[in-house]
Amino acid sequence: MIVCICNNVSDRKIRQAVDEGMSSMSELRENLGIGTCCGKCRSCAKSVLRECLDNQAPAALRHVQAMVFQQSIQAA
Ligand code: FES
Repeated sequence: MIVCICNNVSDRKIRQAVDEGMSSMSELRENLGIGTCCGKCRSCAKSVLRECLDNQAPAALRHVQAMVFQQSIQAA
């Protein structure tokens, strides 16, 4: 789905940007141009960004839990 028509930015492109480390609207604006023309995409872009970040949090938590578990095994 195209989120920003003015700059031809899709939700997939936003997800890819978040996977690469972007985590704010200002970063999306600077790197993808989202919201830099008419601005009508900002609300939708924020929703996609929030959804991506929410989905990343459980994965990051699982990674930390796995690291702690590994360290506890090595210490035993
Ligand atoms: S639709 Fe994104 S700036 Fe116009």
